[in-house]
Amino acid sequence: MPQSMKITAATIDPALLDLPWELPLENWPADVLAALPRGLSRHIVRFVNLSERVIAVKEIGESVAYREYELLRDLVRLGAPCVTPTAVITGRSDLQGEELNSILVTEHLSYSLPYRALFSQYMRPETATRLIDALAVLLVRLHLIGFYWGDVSLSNTLFRRDAGAFAAYLVDAETGELHIEGLTDGKREYDIDLARTNIIGELMDLQAGALLESTVDTIEIGDRIVNRYNELWDVLTAEESFSVDERWRVAHRIKQLNELGFDVGELTMATDAAGTRMVIQPKVVDAGHYHRQIMRLTGLDVEERQGQRMLNDLESYRTLMGRKNDPIEQVAHAWMADVFEPTLDAVPIELRRKLEPAEIFHEVLEHRWYMSERMGYDVTMEEAVKDYVDTVLPHHWDEQSYLSLGDTQEMDAIFSDDEAEVLEDDPDFAALDEESLNQFGLNPMGFTAGMKFKGE
Ligand SMILES: Nc1ncnc2c1ncn2[C@@H]1O[C@H](COP(=O)(O)OP(=O)(O)OP(=O)(O)O)[C@@H](O)[C@H]1O
Ligand SMILES: [Mg+2]
Repeated sequence: MPQSMKITAATIDPALLDLPWELPLENWPADVLAALPRGLSRHIVRFVNLSERVIAVKEIGESVAYREYELLRDLVRLGAPCVTPTAVITGRSDLQGEELNSILVTEHLSYSLPYRALFSQYMRPETATRLIDALAVLLVRLHLIGFYWGDVSLSNTLFRRDAGAFAAYLVDAETGELHIEGLTDGKREYDIDLARTNIIGELMDLQAGALLESTVDTIEIGDRIVNRYNELWDVLTAEESFSVDERWRVAHRIKQLNELGFDVGELTMATDAAGTRMVIQPKVVDAGHYHRQIMRLTGLDVEERQGQRMLNDLESYRTLMGRKNDPIEQVAHAWMADVFEPTLDAVPIELRRKLEPAEIFHEVLEHRWYMSERMGYDVTMEEAVKDYVDTVLPHHWDEQSYLSLGDTQEMDAIFSDDEAEVLEDDPDFAALDEESLNQFGLNPMGFTAGMKFKGE
């Protein structure tokens, strides 16, 4: 480690010191790199294996690195869905004493996918609308805590599967600003407008690369972010007025918010002078309604829709077992031992890392439903998981189709040419890759078969 180098981090993993900081990030050797898909970016970003985890390393200017690090820390503290910052490294120089740019290190968001990785000729056009819906929720959540993004785009977002849909995470906070007093409508509108413009551009780019069907109306999808955002923002924040005889509307509003995955932290209620009309307005709403319930009941850290799915299954288990009057905490314990854990235990280790456990569970439930319909009787969870493991999980369609894409432009966006060449020459490539790709939930065979290298 050069004398002048400085690492700023909340907790420092000593393994961080062993990385080749004296080399420009572009020239880092393949043996430290984790070959995982990456989105488009201006700066150089690499994924690195570090103490059994993967970190994302981005080379940027010193002040920008500190700024982004602090902003991400604030966002994590406020519970926003975003990548977690690990460290800032400054004062780097190479062996000849030439100054090198600073570094921002974040934790690689496991099981996350950049949007370009989600598109291929086999991808359904609905994927685009699902991504937009997830991005609208993310933008509303960020605005609720007073965060102005300044550069909303699909490229600056990561997606995780969430019970057949997606959950979006912020990955690039460089242009963001935190306004704890709340955002003005102007700031919010600026973000929404930019989101719309950027999304249309990004989707057109996919169409130009034949990665999205040309019949898909990109303007309509761009408009969707505006509509979804406004709808959600209204349900979460708008004032509602009704006659005092309709008091049920208070409970209704809260239920509506819960169903959208939000808890009401504070609600103001007022009556007019005559006492005939009532006005309510949610003042504090917290995302993660289902996530928190599952966390409390099972200790599992799951996405919103996955949590909702698990709670529904828990409720049907409660009814089926005749335990309607037992405390939910006790039933949850039994449900974990009788249903959730045996289902995942039935999945062989090598397949288990393809998807997050809660997503596998969701897919088994879906599979059971389709199987029961086809067979004409109620298929058991054991039968369903066996069939799912035999017929569905090994060929997980979207990842495989993406990996066997063989599109040079797409691969360029994900692996730089140099990196691809280095990996190609590396005898450990297959091993290195299998591990990384498994963790990511991808099939290494499809990957090597579909990969194109520079000069091909
Ligand atoms: N912690 C992380 N986990 C997973 N992927 C990450 C992480 N950090 C970065 N990436 C990947 O690297 C890509 C580029 O990162 P980022 O957007 O921060 O770079 P940038 O150069 O600042 O982008 P821009 O061109 O928008 O300024 C992301 O789209 C994402 O795919
Ligand atoms: Mg970016």
